[in-house]
Amino acid sequence: MTSIPEKSAFISRSFACLFAVSILFLILSSSILFQFGDNSLVPRSIYKLIIVQTTRDYIKPVETSVPFVSLSCKESCSTPNPVKSAICDQTQALLKVFMYDLPPEFHFGLLGWKGARNQIWPDVSKPNRIPSYPGGLNLQHSMEYWLTLDLLSSISPNISRPCSAILVHNSTQADVIFVPFFSSLSYNRHSKIHGADKTTMDKILQEKLVKFLKGRDEWRRTGGKDHIIMAHHPNSMLLARKHLGGARFLLADFGRYNSQIANIDKDVVAPYKHVVRRLNARDSPSFEERPVLVYFQGAIYRKDGGMIRQKLYYLLKDEKDVHFTFGSFSSGGVRKVARGMSFSKFCLNIAGDTPSSNRLFDAIASQCVPVIISDDIELPFEDVLDYSKFSIFVRSSDAVKKGYLLKLLRKVRREKWTQMWERLKEIGKHFEYEHPSMSGDAVDMIWQMIHRKMSYVHDRVSKENRYEMSQKFLNV
Ligand SMILES: *[C@@H]1O[C@H](CO)[C@@H](O)[C@H](O)[C@H]1NC(C)=O
Ligand SMILES: *[C@@H]1O[C@H](CO)[C@@H](O)[C@H](O)[C@H]1NC(C)=O
Repeated sequence: MTSIPEKSAFISRSFACLFAVSILFLILSSSILFQFGDNSLVPRSIYKLIIVQTTRDYIKPVETSVPFVSLSCKESCSTPNPVKSAICDQTQALLKVFMYDLPPEFHFGLLGWKGARNQIWPDVSKPNRIPSYPGGLNLQHSMEYWLTLDLLSSISPNISRPCSAILVHNSTQADVIFVPFFSSLSYNRHSKIHGADKTTMDKILQEKLVKFLKGRDEWRRTGGKDHIIMAHHPNSMLLARKHLGGARFLLADFGRYNSQIANIDKDVVAPYKHVVRRLNARDSPSFEERPVLVYFQGAIYRKDGGMIRQKLYYLLKDEKDVHFTFGSFSSGGVRKVARGMSFSKFCLNIAGDTPSSNRLFDAIASQCVPVIISDDIELPFEDVLDYSKFSIFVRSSDAVKKGYLLKLLRKVRREKWTQMWERLKEIGKHFEYEHPSMSGDAVDMIWQMIHRKMSYVHDRVSKENRYEMSQKFLNV
């Protein structure tokens, strides 16, 4: 007996097919248009992405919505769920992920979680059973926790989340192999030598991990090429990284990496989790309600690339509408920083020990227009998000010229600033880590980014372009 559901599934599949074909035509015809117009509105990388993805995926009707994720990303990114009530399964998911069952000491055990005997993973279908992540500054690098939770949730029937990644139990059927080691937490908690110990727990775990991976067929098959290893804290995986350079790292930046081990061609830059509370769009102070022109708070004396902080400090410290002070934030300090940023028009992100910091994401959460002075910074999702529409790029060599920075920022008119502020309110959600994950949030965006990295040769957004685009947009 042919049941009704089967029939309607067939009909909806045929519709999806028809939809796919018409979309393909639409894209092909517009692609011809784009090719002939030099002033294409669609940036090259996006355009390429649409074409590559569509031609690759159009045969599979359920995935035809994928190109639109990327296209509409200029406005807002989301994973459309083709059939709203459908359970996310392997045919629909963007990425099939195999995850090693590493013992809890590598992941949730680091959070103090203890399961029953032989239990490896917490039961995520019961919200009160999920180990919570401690607050404080460790949160910045907590992406390892959110991604792992999301994978576990992908096979839990009653958790609603975007269908970007799904856990599979057979590694030969997976697109990527996920290594669930909470390396940043391991570094933050266990990298100090205690008493008479000769080594640290962090080192022991890294050694064990290297040995484990090198012994796996999955690793040997590709030399780790399809493995995803999380190393968000710049000092995480310090020992293991040189043995695991074949894999793809999820990291904050490349500041402490040799380019043979980590580079933008294979690896994925993930946002920090902001530590200040994200301002509700309705409560966000407007141009007039932000009396401070420029805000910066952080450690000022820094080694390496951080010398520039000191130079800027002496250039700006006596200006009346500039807040530029010492001090990294302690627990009570977070609130002060949140206030400071929300009453400022522009927030400086100056290179420190490493090119990136959570300050950029705190500024975005506060809708304070980021001014990025860090020549080597890598930005999350830059292939689909045009940062010049909501932040300002300034070369270090320009920023240290007397008068340059303030002159530039004072010239930014209210209308231009407001445009950037509106954009900040829209894109803020792409930097939110949450559980369950939501369409277009940081977790979803990272899976999509991994998928893009696996599917096409990354069309590098040139760093030089940033400055040009920034100036063009500001019109100064
Ligand atoms: C999922 O179902 C379990 C019981 O089967 C329930 O305890 C849990 O609260 C549910 N979770 C969600 C997110 O609804
Ligand atoms: C995994 O899949 C491959 C081919 O798809 C199959 O040959 C193998 O038996 C599967 N392994 C398990 C444990 O199911």
